[in-house]
Amino acid sequence: MEKKITVIKGDGIGPEIVTEAQKVLDKVAEKFGHKFVYTDILMGGCSIDKYGVPLTDEAVEIAKNSDAVLLGSIGGNTSTSPWYKLAPNLRPEAGLLKIRKELGLFANLRPANLYPELREACPLKDDIIGDGFDMMIMRELTGGLYFGARKTENVDGVETAVDTLTYNENEIRRIAIRGFDIAMKRRKKVTSVDKANVLDSSRLWRKVVNEVAKDYPEVELEHMLVDNCAMQLVRDPKQFDVILTENMFGDILSDEAAMISGSLGMLASASLNDTKFGMYEPSHGSAPDIAGQDKANPIATILSASMLLRFSFDMDKEADAIDNAVKKVLEAGYRTGDIMSEDMKLVGCKEMGSLVADMI
Ligand code: IPM
Ligand code: MG
Repeated sequence: MEKKITVIKGDGIGPEIVTEAQKVLDKVAEKFGHKFVYTDILMGGCSIDKYGVPLTDEAVEIAKNSDAVLLGSIGGNTSTSPWYKLAPNLRPEAGLLKIRKELGLFANLRPANLYPELREACPLKDDIIGDGFDMMIMRELTGGLYFGARKTENVDGVETAVDTLTYNENEIRRIAIRGFDIAMKRRKKVTSVDKANVLDSSRLWRKVVNEVAKDYPEVELEHMLVDNCAMQLVRDPKQFDVILTENMFGDILSDEAAMISGSLGMLASASLNDTKFGMYEPSHGSAPDIAGQDKANPIATILSASMLLRFSFDMDKEADAIDNAVKKVLEAGYRTGDIMSEDMKLVGCKEMGSLVADMI
């Protein structure tokens, strides 16, 4: 099969980790007789440096005309980088929000699971970890607070900022359906997270999720308030299968979930629209402090490439081959710095990419 992949290397460690993921994709292409045609576009700080904006319309067009997007990471140090002296709509993150909106990527899947080989890296106590945990956060990605009208103005001599949180029932319904569909392929439990004791948008969220649940009688549904969920994630993470939630809550909870897995450098993510098209990226950021030093862990990006093959190209065998290769490399004791523990073999970003590619 021939497929067009738009590649966004981005900033910080982005270029290094994406290069390794492409190494692995190329090995898959060779082994399984496919052809992946890559087109690079700029997004984030590198695009600001070249074009003065974090994402050009031309770049969006290229992405729209491809079969899937592979993204590294964008952004820099928010205290020191000149990119953060620009107007908010010209900063690196604005490019990410724009591409999500333009491509209609409303469904963000963020798995957080504990790799048995990396148990040591989990910050939770042994009795809380138990046999490990495996959850999928389904975050709504193109609505809510991050996309509502905002302004900062002077009201009667007082500087005042406003952000608006809007959801309509259709936006809630389509993400809820995705959440229940995924739950059907997993352990058939959905925890819908909201703040229905305070917010109108959350009360609508709960009502629509209850309606959607009627079409999935096999799935157990529970509602949880977001503050409680933040607590439950560290108290008993095993209880979660699919966490279904709105944009900002998902942003925050997915970082927490990633942290307790102890291996942020291992977690992939997918952002999907209502077709097969998707954008795939590691759950971690651009780590400007270690950029260009061959220290980054490319596994989250490699596993994102695996998700890309599985969700956008229906290449399950090929995706399995990548997942198994990663497993074997970990079993063989190879680790990048972020997941290093005693008696393991420390390798750099490039070597880790080569090890995984060689196992395909
Ligand atoms: C994420 C990031 C982004 C978000 C930022 C960079 C805009 O934190 O993907 O979780 O909040 O969505
Ligand atoms: Mg985030």
